[in-house]
Amino acid sequence: MKKPGEVFEDASVYDPGIEAIVPRYDELHDAILNAPPHDRGEPLRALELGAGTGELTAKLLTRFPESTVLAIDHSEGMLAEADRKLATFGDRATIRQGAFPDDYPDATGEYDLVVSSLAVHHLDDATKRDLFDAVLEALAPGGWFLNGDVVRFEADHLEELSDRMIRNWVRSKGWEEAEFMDVWKASDDYDDPATLTDQLVWLRESGFEAVTSIWQYYNFAVYGGRKPE
Ligand SMILES: C[S@@+](CC[C@H](N)C(=O)[O-])C[C@H]1O[C@@H](n2cnc3c(N)ncnc32)[C@H](O)[C@@H]1O
Repeated sequence: MKKPGEVFEDASVYDPGIEAIVPRYDELHDAILNAPPHDRGEPLRALELGAGTGELTAKLLTRFPESTVLAIDHSEGMLAEADRKLATFGDRATIRQGAFPDDYPDATGEYDLVVSSLAVHHLDDATKRDLFDAVLEALAPGGWFLNGDVVRFEADHLEELSDRMIRNWVRSKGWEEAEFMDVWKASDDYDDPATLTDQLVWLRESGFEAVTSIWQYYNFAVYGGRKPE
């Protein structure tokens, strides 16, 4: 039985597969990594929640060559892929199996940056709010939280528009519609996206400042905020 967010039964097909079903996957990651105010040479301490195969963590470690990242995920299969991918970064990357918000973040004032991509939308709304509180606690003053994720539209016709856009994207990547629908339905079971507006409000209510969305493509958005100094 798959865990929330694993997407594919076989984690080794995740990297090519996710690019085929999430439009502008790399652009979403770029927006997360473009947003923090830090210089490339800073020794950033970062945490990735739901790191999967380690793709965003690898990009972060590459972009900030003095940074260290704790990459956490609850999936053994995904972490086995991450282990292979992140080996080249030596002790700058630490991988731990665990769930958010139950096991992580478990620190106070420790991180300059907390990032997540395509993972938080599996939590119900009350648990998303608990997570935002825990992330604020884990950040150092002035630290940033950036989440790139699936968001929900309140207007039905915009949800349908997003669905059509994803189907077009999938076909443009050469997938058969039926093959895609099987994967999509299976991963849908655990999906519980909230609206972008609600999540911006919740971040404010948790105590974040400078709360904003910085990128959106239909039902995918990158948003976050800063812990006050
Ligand atoms: C769609 S993948 C995204 C992986 C990666 N962040 C990326 O951008 O490709 C979602 C990941 O989040 C993990 N995940 C989902 N909910 C989680 C939770 N509550 N605790 C830990 N990991 C979780 C899944 O196991 C999966 O590896």
